[in-house]
Amino acid sequence: MNQNTKCVHAGTIRGAMPQGANSPILTSTSFDYTNTDYNIYPRYFNIPNQTAVIEKLCALENTETGILFGSGMAAITCSALALLKTGDHMVIQKDIYGGTHYLLKTEFEKFGIDYTFVSNDINEIKSGIQKNTKIIYIETPSNPLLLITDIKAVSEIAKANNIITVIDNTFATPINQKPYDLGIDVVIHSGTKYLGGHSDITCGVALTNRNIAEKIRISAYNFGASLDAQTCYLLERSLKTLNIRVEKQCENAMIIAEAMENDPKIKKVYYPGLKSHSGHEIAKKQMKHFGAVVSFELGEDKAYAKRFFKRLKYIMPALSLGGVESLICVPAVTSHAKVREVERLKIGVTDNLFRLSVGIEDTADLLEDIKQAAA
Ligand SMILES: Cc1ncc(COP(=O)(O)O)c(C=O)c1O
Repeated sequence: MNQNTKCVHAGTIRGAMPQGANSPILTSTSFDYTNTDYNIYPRYFNIPNQTAVIEKLCALENTETGILFGSGMAAITCSALALLKTGDHMVIQKDIYGGTHYLLKTEFEKFGIDYTFVSNDINEIKSGIQKNTKIIYIETPSNPLLLITDIKAVSEIAKANNIITVIDNTFATPINQKPYDLGIDVVIHSGTKYLGGHSDITCGVALTNRNIAEKIRISAYNFGASLDAQTCYLLERSLKTLNIRVEKQCENAMIIAEAMENDPKIKKVYYPGLKSHSGHEIAKKQMKHFGAVVSFELGEDKAYAKRFFKRLKYIMPALSLGGVESLICVPAVTSHAKVREVERLKIGVTDNLFRLSVGIEDTADLLEDIKQAAA
């Protein structure tokens, strides 16, 4: 199957019932265990609607299996805590989603798990490895500066040192980037973003091999952040159009990034599809399209954003990203609000950095909206 066909058909529930084009929503939390040799229960991550979505996502990411969670953070937390224990160490990219940053500060330190922040530079990642390093964790493109990390190089270093690799593939989506094919062990998504795609569900997923999945599943049973059948159904429905949505979003993003680069009002544009982007060459190697988030610096003071947002007609100032509607935010006060100011500024998340999540609207309308608001 090719990508569109996988999006539509992989995993659909078929069974002893009238054959519909869509999976039925099986809301039961209790299942007759005399017919199976294992127990079926939502928090065991094995109800039919969860399994159907996992099958589709595995078809898209080329992984063996996976676990669906109630949020992206649940997927990250359960995966990390399943694979680490007190005294272990993780090498982690510093330009990552602010929530992941916060997780380390609040929970890892509490559990005595050590970590070293590194840049996306492969030599720095390598030099961060210690004797007790168990995980290398990367996010590419990263949130919000869209830094690109060489996935294959990271997986090779990790394999040589017997370390598990985890990637947050949320920004790329499985349409643009298939980290498992490049040697990464665990692929995580905040499904709240592109996988859901309509800004109406919260979910997450960890996709991996059977061996690692068994370990994550044990922590997941305990932490309990499972996903209900109705949300699974909405996610399955959304995934049918993933390829089509993401292709249009990336096409829009490329055009907008190029236009912004030629606009003298905009100080700096961050988009891996631009030749001027530090990670452009690596992105070309490992991505199909360059994603649909464009970050840029605009305005002189903190108050500028308010004025700019007020003038926007279609692009909505809001948290989150990946939906069919274009959204914009200032990461300093949203996704990175919990990161200390000094650390935030050190990684380049300034008060005048905007993160635009490009939707599927007509390109000309989006371009016009940005132009008139910036004017
Ligand atoms: C890259 C990335 N990873 C993970 C998350 C966390 O996902 P969720 O909000 O679904 O828990 C986010 C949320 O914004 C994100 O942007």
